[in-house]
Amino acid sequence: MSAISVQALSKTFSGNAKALKEISLTIEEGEMVALIGASGSGKSTLIRHVAGLVSGDRSSGEIRVHGNLIQRSGRIPRKVRQHRRHIGVVFQQFNLIGRLSVLTNVLMGVLGTAPAFRTIFGIFTKSEKRSALQALERVGIESHADKRADKLSGGQQQRAAIARTIVQGARVILADEPIASLDPASSRKVMDNLSRVNRDDNVTVLVSLHQVDYAIQYCPRTIAMRDGQIVFDGASDKLTPAFLQELYGAESVKLTNEEKQRETFAEAEVKPVNTPETPHGLPVGAQAKTVTPETQFVQ
Ligand SMILES: Nc1ncnc2c1ncn2[C@@H]1O[C@H](COP(=O)(O)OP(=O)(O)OP(=O)(O)O)[C@@H](O)[C@H]1O
Ligand SMILES: [Mg+2]
Repeated sequence: MSAISVQALSKTFSGNAKALKEISLTIEEGEMVALIGASGSGKSTLIRHVAGLVSGDRSSGEIRVHGNLIQRSGRIPRKVRQHRRHIGVVFQQFNLIGRLSVLTNVLMGVLGTAPAFRTIFGIFTKSEKRSALQALERVGIESHADKRADKLSGGQQQRAAIARTIVQGARVILADEPIASLDPASSRKVMDNLSRVNRDDNVTVLVSLHQVDYAIQYCPRTIAMRDGQIVFDGASDKLTPAFLQELYGAESVKLTNEEKQRETFAEAEVKPVNTPETPHGLPVGAQAKTVTPETQFVQ
C-alpha cells in the first residue's frame, strides 16, 4: 500500500484559473520526496489537499494516505479527522502557539488521540511528557523545553514542529517550505532532522522547497510542478540545469542572487565551514564557498 496516493486531483479557486490540473502521483512508504516549482505553481495547494485541509474540484479523483480516504470527488469525509492523526504538517510559519511553552506545543501532538477535556485543560501524563522531551532531544532542542515558543529562533521553532510530529506518531510528514525563511546553517539542521525521522522511523516525507540544492542533497526523488501540473517526477540527480532554468524562468535569476546574498551573510556571521554542526559535509553550495564580508556584494 502506498503512503500517499493522489489520483486526478484538480482545483479551481473561484474566479481563478486552475491551480491544480489532474494531478496524479504515488509516494511509497519511507520515501523522502522534494516538491519544487516556481511561485504559484501549486505546491502549497497540493500539500493542503493531501493534508485534508482543502477539497478539490468535484471532477477530482481521490487522495489516500496509507490507504485511508482523505477526499474523493471534492468531498472530505468526516472520518478524516482520525486519519489526519497519522499526518504531521510543518509549515513555513505559524507552526507553534507562541505564548505556550515549547514542551506544551510538542505535547499538542498527542491531542489528536486525547479526550476533549484534556485538550481544554492541557492535562498530560508523565509518559506523554517523557516522550515529548525525548522528541525534543532527538531534534536537539531539549534545553529549550520550558521556554515560550516565540522566544525560539525560526530554525528551533521548525525543529519543535518536527518534534510535535514525532510525538503525534505521524507516519507521513508534509512540510511546506519549512526552510524558506531560515539561514543555511538552520536550514541544514531542519533538513537533517527531517531526514533522520525519515530514515530512522521510516516516516514518509513530502517537502516543498525553493532551494533546489537542498532537494538534490536530501531527497532522492523530486516532483517538479509548473502551472498546476507535474512536469518532472524522478531521481533528483537527474534534474538538469537547463530544466531548472526553464522551470523557474525569470525567477531563477532572482532566486540565485537572493540565495547568494543570504548565504554570504549567514556564512559571514555564523561559523567556519566544516564545524561539527555540519557533520555530513555534503556539497551544499553555501558550504563550498569561502566568503569574507568584503566580497559580499561582488558578484
Ligand atoms: N485560497 C486561494 N484562493 C484563490 N487562489 C489561490 C488560493 N490559494 C492559492 N491560490 C492560487 O493557486 C495557485 C497556486 O498557489 P500555491 O500557493 O499553491 O503556489 P506555490 O507553488 O505554493 O507558490 P509559492 O512558492 O509562492 O508558495 C496560485 O495561482 C495562487 O494564486
Ligand atoms: Mg507555497
